[in-house]
Amino acid sequence: MKINNRLRMIGDLVEANSFCLDVGCDHGLLDIYLVKRNEHIQTIGSDIAQGPLNHAKENIKREHLEGKIELRLGSGLKTYSDEVDTIIISGMGGRNMIGIFKEDLKVLKRVKTFILSPNNYQEDVKRFLCKNGFYIENEEFVKDNNIIYQIIIFKRGKKKYSKKDYFFGPIFLEKKDSLFLEYYGKELKSRQIILSLLPKNYYLKRRKIKNEILLLKREIDH
Ligand SMILES: C[S@@+](CC[C@H](N)C(=O)[O-])C[C@H]1O[C@@H](n2cnc3c(N)ncnc32)[C@H](O)[C@@H]1O
Repeated sequence: MKINNRLRMIGDLVEANSFCLDVGCDHGLLDIYLVKRNEHIQTIGSDIAQGPLNHAKENIKREHLEGKIELRLGSGLKTYSDEVDTIIISGMGGRNMIGIFKEDLKVLKRVKTFILSPNNYQEDVKRFLCKNGFYIENEEFVKDNNIIYQIIIFKRGKKKYSKKDYFFGPIFLEKKDSLFLEYYGKELKSRQIILSLLPKNYYLKRRKIKNEILLLKREIDH
């Protein structure tokens, strides 16, 4: 079964012996990849809607993996149970993810690892989890269909981060590879366009964007 670069990269970041909960599993392709990749990984696929779970069930059957992947219907972390140590959420907006965490804060105290790939508001996700008992262990960019995605791994623990760390990602800043320059180059261009379109009396919004443009220029030009 074909899997895209983004999901493969997420799957490859899962440690052996992990017990995963894939929240918003949709087609179940990541769960299928995980159990095929490593027999010591276990996973539960969960989704808020029955339609995606039916799709996942068909895909699992096609791969003869019934009994190896459990599917659960429910919203966010409501499908969590104690054996899970790693929660994966990908292909959702960052604010949706934060909403999911806020609904079940006590689950956050029991989980060891989060592997997240928010489509947007990555900074907010980092700030939220780092305020709630996690640090950023790793960050990866992955290019899929000409779009660059962020994958962020959080582990239980505490670290201090600067404003710049939260904005760019502390590990991304250390690595500063070609995908970093491409990703943040696009972020710079989109802010320059927004600034040129924003009415002059949007003082606060304009100031925020100008500051971000300065931050981006400083990091990309050096
Ligand atoms: C765009 S798909 C992403 C699928 C897959 N995780 C990926 O990265 O390709 C989003 C999935 O999340 C599910 N979803 C949205 N909100 C959810 C929530 N609060 N709890 C569980 N699943 C949710 C949707 O039903 C949908 O199947």
